Amino acid sequence: MKKYDIAVIGGDGTGPEVIAEGKKVLAAAARKFGFKLNWVEYDLGGERYKRTGEILPDSVLAELRKLDAIYLGAIGHPDVKPGVLEKGLLLRLRFELDQYINLRPVKLYPGVDCPLKDKGPKEIDFVVVRENTEGLYVGSGGFLKKGTRDEVALQVSINTRKGVERCIRFAFEYCKQRNKGKKVTLCGKTNVLTFAWDLWERTFQELAAQFPNIRTDYAHVDATCMWMVKNPEWFDVIVTDNMLGDIITDLGAMIQGGMGVAAVGNLNPEGVSMFEPIGGSAPKYTGKGMINPLAAIFAGMMMLEHLGEKKAAKAVEQAAIKTIGRMSSMSAGRMGMSTSQVGDCVVKALE
Ligand code: IPM
Ligand code: MN
Repeated sequence: MKKYDIAVIGGDGTGPEVIAEGKKVLAAAARKFGFKLNWVEYDLGGERYKRTGEILPDSVLAELRKLDAIYLGAIGHPDVKPGVLEKGLLLRLRFELDQYINLRPVKLYPGVDCPLKDKGPKEIDFVVVRENTEGLYVGSGGFLKKGTRDEVALQVSINTRKGVERCIRFAFEYCKQRNKGKKVTLCGKTNVLTFAWDLWERTFQELAAQFPNIRTDYAHVDATCMWMVKNPEWFDVIVTDNMLGDIITDLGAMIQGGMGVAAVGNLNPEGVSMFEPIGGSAPKYTGKGMINPLAAIFAGMMMLEHLGEKKAAKAVEQAAIKTIGRMSSMSAGRMGMSTSQVGDCVVKALE
């Protein structure tokens, strides 16, 4: 029997609650489809940091490198200064494990309320491929004359040919396998950011020539935001850089029904990948059984897909869709069910 060693980082706030439901569902899928999931739990996040001052010990990182995937809940603690855990844990994992793709399906499932009038599951079904290890996120820059009237702050976007190319190539390969419009849209800002986006555009054109059966398009990031709302059906695969991707994927989360359903894969196709719901730690809902675990369940589905358990992933998706049909809303506290009842419902539908 195939066995996968999965690191589990429940993390902060509601992270552990939603991951518990995801584990429940994935374990049921493993039983049904004949593989084994070996959970390796890690105590990381705000609480550990407050207790011990540790964020991501090197020894833990070394262990994570040897596992098959990471299942992450949420990072962020009300008592810890913003940026400390994000940079020290989440971004450090992405960078150290070279998870160079941030893969964000934006898919409206039947039964999920969409804020866009006249748009349904047929119109809202695309994927954003966000570069995940470069750009403004590298943390390159500095201050000059800090704290004076002459202060200068620099925040530099780093774009390497290699990094841009592997991201765009992934987008084309992914599009090839996706059952939709066979179109890759480059989302950038070539009219203003003329160095970085020049490199992106040239690389995009070069790679496009290697994929003659895939149509290409270009949209500035501001226009992309308009079209995601006005004509989301135009999109199949969108490829973009780290910062623009961060912004447009949150817009994507809203049009697909919100934080309760949006999931992401941080992929290193040659290494260890990490899957998370995008909702954050939601401190005000912590421990109340009110949070929607479907985003974590969809993150788990992406993990199964990535591990090669395609049938199990499909079955989890179908079971989640059935469950959505029984829920009154995707929003925390208004689901008509508790967090664990949603998980139970998915398990039941799966079995
Ligand atoms: C995300 C998050 C992170 C990001 C934060 C928490 C650092 O917003 O995964 O999109 O900006 O990448
Ligand atoms: Mn974000």
